[in-house]
Amino acid sequence: MSKFILHPSSLDITNGSNDDGTTPKLAAQTALLHADEFLNEVNDVAVPIHVSTTFRYPCDHTKLIAAKDLTNENTDAHVYSRLTAPSTTRMEAILSQYLNGYALVYASGLAAFHAALVHLNPKRLSIGDCYHGCHGVADIHSRITGMKQLPLDCPAEELQEGDVIHLETPLNPVGEASDISFYAEKAHSRGAILIVDSTFAPPPLQDPFLWGADVVMHSASKYIGGHSDMLGGVLVVKDLKRRWKMYEERVYLGGIMGSLEAWLGVRSARTLELRVLRQSENATKLVEWLSGDLGVGDSAVQKVVAKVRHASLQKDEFVEKQMTGGFGPVFAIEMKTEILAKMLPSHLELFAHATSLGGVESLIEWRAMSDTLVSPTLLRLSIGIENWEDLKNDLLQAFEKLAAARVEINGTN
Ligand SMILES: Cc1ncc(COP(=O)(O)O)c(C=O)c1O
Repeated sequence: MSKFILHPSSLDITNGSNDDGTTPKLAAQTALLHADEFLNEVNDVAVPIHVSTTFRYPCDHTKLIAAKDLTNENTDAHVYSRLTAPSTTRMEAILSQYLNGYALVYASGLAAFHAALVHLNPKRLSIGDCYHGCHGVADIHSRITGMKQLPLDCPAEELQEGDVIHLETPLNPVGEASDISFYAEKAHSRGAILIVDSTFAPPPLQDPFLWGADVVMHSASKYIGGHSDMLGGVLVVKDLKRRWKMYEERVYLGGIMGSLEAWLGVRSARTLELRVLRQSENATKLVEWLSGDLGVGDSAVQKVVAKVRHASLQKDEFVEKQMTGGFGPVFAIEMKTEILAKMLPSHLELFAHATSLGGVESLIEWRAMSDTLVSPTLLRLSIGIENWEDLKNDLLQAFEKLAAARVEINGTN
């Protein structure tokens, strides 16, 4: 493998941190604004857009260093954007601070998961319910490498050193949480590695590293991007050597995030914490209202909704301990019939009927549109930053219309 040198600044996650690099000096919200400031090359306040794929070598011929002689100590220049570029470097500087490890950015969440499997190359992968695309990636990896797939609840004895447990929490599409420490202990008791897909609950909602995760993954297309306008993925690790190896592999796999997306990501990072806290609060209030009304004899909710699913409704002790900053902004409702589930989205004014999640605007999806494994009565709601009572009133008027239509069709509720 030929030598590729990383722009050293993108490694400097100790910038703004204590000397050991473990405890950020800046609070998380401040880091989102300022962790990349040391990378400023111009005096613009807004971050400039850089689109160049290639960067000029030094004019001074005495400063030219042949590739074979490059070290991380003797260069800090960008060379080619498949390696590093100004916006991806900024994104990594910010996310390394915010996600509490060494962050690498990828072209999508699935590109990140693929990179993790290529890097860890486990003989066995323990994987259960999770985003269907991750199963697709795992199947391709199994076909190429012979990796065996085990259920998430397989006995610990079936795992060996170097194997991987992949845990998604909170879980797509229902927003319910699993106990990260339980799976961390299980993995580590066998010398295996725990990946946590934390897409549904970025900080401040949860930090999987606190509960033993070895690799934290995010689809940056969701909350990190936050405006439904960029695709991206992130892997975060605590081990610097691993980070270097993964960086080198990304250079060859070519899965780095695009420069324009990284610029959008930096723009979005500034408001990440504010958005996520508001979205979490909105979702939790809506779930409280829905689950309360489910128990009320003749409420419109009770007439058409069968069940609400969300981490805030789980009784398990670990949930509140793990989700210190609040519950995820995604939850699911199961309607009483498939036709009600199909009809609800078109009766709503404020929710777009679309897949994906994490954007500032609320979305609803009849999940059977994109996931072949879910119940046809299930709707996934991704709550945005609107006023929560407007969202409640929108849902309520739609439930009332559907309940009235049921009476018309069936003559009964
Ligand atoms: C939990 C989770 N992980 C990973 C992904 C894949 O991310 P991307 O669409 O950015 O590839 C998604 C996408 O919906 C997801 O919901």
